Amino acid sequence: MVSYERQQAFQIREAEFSDLPHVMRINRICLPENYTYFFFESILRNYPKTFLVAEVDGNIAGYIMCRVERGFSKFDRLSFKKLGHVISIAVLPEYRRRGMGESLLESALKAMKGHYGCEEAYLEVRVSNIPALTLYRKLGFTVVKTARRYYIDGEDAYVMAKKL
Ligand SMILES: CC(C)(COP(=O)(O)OP(=O)(O)OC[C@H]1O[C@@H](n2cnc3c(N)ncnc32)[C@H](O)[C@@H]1OP(=O)(O)O)[C@@H](O)C(=O)NCCC(=O)NCCS
Repeated sequence: MVSYERQQAFQIREAEFSDLPHVMRINRICLPENYTYFFFESILRNYPKTFLVAEVDGNIAGYIMCRVERGFSKFDRLSFKKLGHVISIAVLPEYRRRGMGESLLESALKAMKGHYGCEEAYLEVRVSNIPALTLYRKLGFTVVKTARRYYIDGEDAYVMAKKL
């Protein structure tokens, strides 16, 4: 349990299938990239150790979900590696700047390496998303590529990666 003075404590735990409606609600509130129930459910079924939620007083305030992939290293294009891909992370606006996003990402990175044996983590982020970019840089991610017009509205994405 992580607690902050004068603020409600929060807990990071593995998601359960019964959390998915809450996770989907947070996803719709916080991000334009939304997915079907089947997609969330399949990610949770296949990669439960890196599908985490942040809970405050029994309410889900944030989540992270990731997938384990095999592919070329984001740092050395000639080596094939096990990669942890952060698919989506969000914290409800009223719970932001309390360390939840950072704790969710740190915990997921730990499980990527410790449980799934990933050697690198990577993610895509809108080039304009300063809060997320700052969080990823803080946890050691660096920009390895710009993906032009990656998003449906035409915005570019930075691909950011970190060795685990
Ligand atoms: C990105 C997001 C998950 C961060 O969640 P959060 O719980 O507010 O983040 P934290 O409180 O753990 O912040 C950790 C660090 O991230 C950075 N950060 C977070 N919000 C920031 C902001 N608004 N501006 C600048 N830096 C910010 C800071 O470095 C912060 O560390 P600090 O508090 O010591 O300065 C949250 O803003 C969010 O849900 N955004 C909408 C969804 C989204 O954009 N997801 C990412 C898609 S790629």
